[in-house]
Amino acid sequence: MSKMNNFMGWVDARFPATKMWEEHLSKYYAPKNFNFWYFFGSLALLVLVLQIVTGIFLTMNYKPDGALAFASVEYIMRDVEWGWLIRYMHSTGASMFFVVIYLHMFRGIMYGSYKKPRELIWIFGMMLYVALMAEAFMGYLLPWGQMSYWGAQVIISLFGAIPYVGEPLALWIRGDYVISDATLNRFFAFHVIAVPLILLGLVVAHILALHEVGSNNPDGVEIKKHKDENGVPLDGIPFHPYYSVKDLVGVGVFLILFSAVIFWAPEMGGYFLEHANFVPADPLKTPEHIAPVWYFTPFYAILRAVPDKLLGVIAMGASIVILFVLPWLDRNGIRSIRFRSLAYKLNLAIFVISFVVLGWLGMQPSTPTLTLFSQIFSALYFSFFLALFLISKNEKTKPVPERVTN
Ligand code: HEM
Repeated sequence: MSKMNNFMGWVDARFPATKMWEEHLSKYYAPKNFNFWYFFGSLALLVLVLQIVTGIFLTMNYKPDGALAFASVEYIMRDVEWGWLIRYMHSTGASMFFVVIYLHMFRGIMYGSYKKPRELIWIFGMMLYVALMAEAFMGYLLPWGQMSYWGAQVIISLFGAIPYVGEPLALWIRGDYVISDATLNRFFAFHVIAVPLILLGLVVAHILALHEVGSNNPDGVEIKKHKDENGVPLDGIPFHPYYSVKDLVGVGVFLILFSAVIFWAPEMGGYFLEHANFVPADPLKTPEHIAPVWYFTPFYAILRAVPDKLLGVIAMGASIVILFVLPWLDRNGIRSIRFRSLAYKLNLAIFVISFVVLGWLGMQPSTPTLTLFSQIFSALYFSFFLALFLISKNEKTKPVPERVTN
């Protein structure tokens, strides 16, 4: 043991190993009342690591070449030892990432975790979300199936709607007049190195911002207000070992569910891997029905709800951008849903319902009736933010306890 201490002493004189361990783990005091909603941050980290590791192994056999890409994925699935598992872990992992992130974001909204002094945690989170969407979008082109090809074609052509610079911009992004080998190569570069680096950097910023101010909790009360004589919050417990062990329970449950999908329903009936993507990309044959993967469909529905292309693109962009300013739209000082008004709760419930319904609508081929529904639910989606702004000003809230409740 003393040899170990000597070694750590030697390291600590040169690198802040113990200092960082204490600051971020053994002496990082987290509120003692975390519930299961607090699993999703560590699960997001786990999925990020899984995606990077499986991605590295996929890259060893994948060929980013318009003539070879599709066949190289088939080769991974059929001939590479355990290739099918690595590939399914990666493709299922992408969908699971979004499941985890949507729940993580919902927790942040529900408990008002974006409010002062945690606005930057939220902003870094939103940047992560946008980077994650870019990562998933570019990854989906790589198998070079019909949906990879035509999905990218539809989305990149949206840039063409921007006045004056739109067409040259779309051309610049594709590197060709249509999606081609040039597009595949650059998407591969972004997907395997550029965007993952951005994601990792943002995760560091996200956690540093969190540890600077401390975690929120289901009661939304500030645990730093009540400290003992050593400056330790009375309602705080050290992250390690308490939450490192608790998070392992979340990891266990997650891995069971994750394995169930990988082994029994890796394509999830066409929701995780669309059927059209098992057909090689054919620039001369448009699939009958083009739809993005489920995690993009709420925004796709908003895009299609607006008849004008440019206005549709603006509405879709606004539906994401507006989330960045959520901390300033909610004008109420009370964080947790537990102490907020019925009007607030109903507003949030309508928001969740509209997001899910838009997600479903975005998967359907468009018909006049469904377009009308898309318009109604898009309006409901945006009305959440307006209503929140109005409700939160003079809301009838319940008294908030001084200390956490359990
Ligand atoms: C790769 C993506 C992400 C990773 C790895 C990640 C990781 C984490 C971790 C480990 C925590 C602490 C544990 C927890 O509170 O659950 C956390 C907290 C938080 N995250 Fe994320 N996150 C990601 C994306 C996001 C996104 C997209 C948002 C919202 C737009 C967000 C908003 C927050 C907020 C507000 C907190 C503080 C919660 C509180 O203290 O109540 N995160 N994140």
